[in-house]
Amino acid sequence: MTKVRKAVIPAAGLGTRFLPATKAQPKEMLPLLDKPAIQYVVEEAVGAGLTDIIIITGRGKHAIVDHFDRSFELEHFLEAKGKFDELKQVREISDMASIHYIRQRDPLGLGHAVAAAEGHVRDEPFAVLLGDDLIVESTHLLQEMLAVHGKYGRSVLGAMEVSRDDISLYGAIEPELVENEHLARVRSIVEKPAPEDAPSNLAAIGRYVLTPEIFDCLRRTQPGVGGELQLTDAINLLAQEQAVYAYVFEGGRFDVGNKIDYLKATIELAIDRDDIGKEFRSWLGDFVERKKLI
Ligand code: UTP
Repeated sequence: MTKVRKAVIPAAGLGTRFLPATKAQPKEMLPLLDKPAIQYVVEEAVGAGLTDIIIITGRGKHAIVDHFDRSFELEHFLEAKGKFDELKQVREISDMASIHYIRQRDPLGLGHAVAAAEGHVRDEPFAVLLGDDLIVESTHLLQEMLAVHGKYGRSVLGAMEVSRDDISLYGAIEPELVENEHLARVRSIVEKPAPEDAPSNLAAIGRYVLTPEIFDCLRRTQPGVGGELQLTDAINLLAQEQAVYAYVFEGGRFDVGNKIDYLKATIELAIDRDDIGKEFRSWLGDFVERKKLI
């Protein structure tokens, strides 16, 4: 079986939920403390052993390319000033992995963005990590999903249970129990259903390990919800033709393209940080008390 080496990171969306901050900068570059969101995603892919990273970009996304490139001027400045810790950090970003960029000319949907990677991925299984979806490191979600792929050789979706009301924001999975409470087979999946029509409250989140047959399914998929080419619809086709699994995990996931999740992610990250965590926890405790929040 082919080992998964490639990660596709779609980052070409317009980020309309975060306007005006995303008018002139990509939402994937919004900082969570001192790192842009997409750096956490690239680090997650590299940490899971993926070595070939393909970022799907579009108009106005130069900052992403610059961020992962060498910055000789900045490096020279830091070196001259003796700021060696900062220099190390800056160099590590560009040395992290081999990163390629593919341009999605128009943001016609997540399915369309993934389809743009076909020429680079070709006939290998690959991972998809949404550039604005943050998974807390300690969950090891991607590693677990890759292990399931290693066992069955089939596609695996990252999934989590959400409330009935929230399911209309996600791809909703019709599951069939397979092995244990963490692993289900996907009978079908539907994009953003009304809560009353959802087959379950099991949602596909922004992590996928896909077999290359998905490209053929994408070619046969028509624009769906919102007039966009939906990855969910292509996965639904794939699930009718070969087994697709859902790896169910709990918590530790933030859609940082959404304001509330962005705030929650920032706070969670800050609390656990060695450098600022102690001071921040103490301030947060006082703040909650002062504002009588609980
Ligand atoms: P979203 O639906 O969250 O992105 O797509 P969006 O369209 O930018 O968000 P809003 O609703 O307008 O705020 C999830 C991921 O897929 C990428 C996005 O960049 C994001 O990382 N995406 C989406 C593409 O690469 N291309 C697209 O056409 C759509």
